[in-house]
Amino acid sequence: MANWQSYISGVGAFVPEKAFTNFDLEKTLDTSDEWIQQRTGIVKRHWADDDVATSDLAVKASEEAIADAKIDKHDIDCIIFATLSPDHDFPGAGCFLQEKLGLNGIPAFDIRQQCTGYIYGLSMADAFIKTGQYKNILLVGAEIHSKGLDRTPEGRNVSVLFGDGAGATIISSKESGGDNDSHIISHDLHADGAFAKELWIPAPGTANGADRINQTMLDEKLNFGFMNGRTVFMHAVKRMSESLAFTLKSNNCTIDDVDLFLFHQANLRINDKVGEIMGIPAEKVFNTIQDYGNTTAATIPLGMRDAVKAGRLEKGMLVGLAAFGSGFTWGSSLLRY
Ligand code: UT7
Repeated sequence: MANWQSYISGVGAFVPEKAFTNFDLEKTLDTSDEWIQQRTGIVKRHWADDDVATSDLAVKASEEAIADAKIDKHDIDCIIFATLSPDHDFPGAGCFLQEKLGLNGIPAFDIRQQCTGYIYGLSMADAFIKTGQYKNILLVGAEIHSKGLDRTPEGRNVSVLFGDGAGATIISSKESGGDNDSHIISHDLHADGAFAKELWIPAPGTANGADRINQTMLDEKLNFGFMNGRTVFMHAVKRMSESLAFTLKSNNCTIDDVDLFLFHQANLRINDKVGEIMGIPAEKVFNTIQDYGNTTAATIPLGMRDAVKAGRLEKGMLVGLAAFGSGFTWGSSLLRY
């Protein structure tokens, strides 16, 4: 029986055209470019038009990834869609994406691991490929946050942080090759529901009494994200560093062996701290938060596409991924791109 390995055969990304700078937000949000840049590194974010759904962004990113992988779209035999902002409560956004791509019939998973969604999805795709179940998996992370933000001064602590966007990768199978050939190496995944309410959207939901949502909940703004920023920040730094250290150690790798790190993009200061703790030279970390804000499940594949375009990521490079987010969920991956 063949010994299957998975690798990233194509990458694509898409953000809505309209960009909103920190200066644009100053006009309505009682915030300042200085505060946002100093605390987060964000300069601008893209927000979608009203008639655009999350799966529309995912279609564009997927088409670029399919072209990059140089496969026919009908070679895709599974979709994994990571998002916390699906088109509708159900069915999953993966079904809407599948229909828009004209890939009806293949399985479509939605996964809900928020900012760690891409890494969870990558580990799923890797496992499916290794068992020989699928040959080309479309793994997408996409979000439209803008429609779920409290864009009044009261919501400024959360609303300045998030952007809309999508990143897609094709995870393909091949027979095991040499250590320096492209292949996904390993993953480390975690969750701790004790912190579920440190970063969450309470409503709609079945834990809210008789109604999933009602006017009182809307008046209390329970349909918008709540975040205990400092707690999240502290745990993000600790958990991303821990997980990355574990993944490197379990593969007998050091920081020197790794060519590029792609971290989740929640705050430039989080990534700088992780770099400092781990002793990672700044030039080995590729950040995009300046341009896109936090696009949750999309940050890592979006960064991957931009790193390729910028000439910072090439075939054969050893790449470390790490993310942390709501749940809390966190994890890391190591791959030969
Ligand atoms: O992707 C999922 C994971 N998410 C994260 O990892 C985010 C983690 N947390 C963070 O990145 C940071 O905690 C934030 C960027 C969210 C906040 O930075 P902070 O340094 O922790 O600020 P803070 O929340 O402690 O607020 C400091 C001050 C407060 O004013 P006072 O009480 O000191 O007078 C806030 O009211 O900054 C004020 N503030 C703002 N001022 C201008 C909060 N938001 C804003 C704003 N503009 N947008």
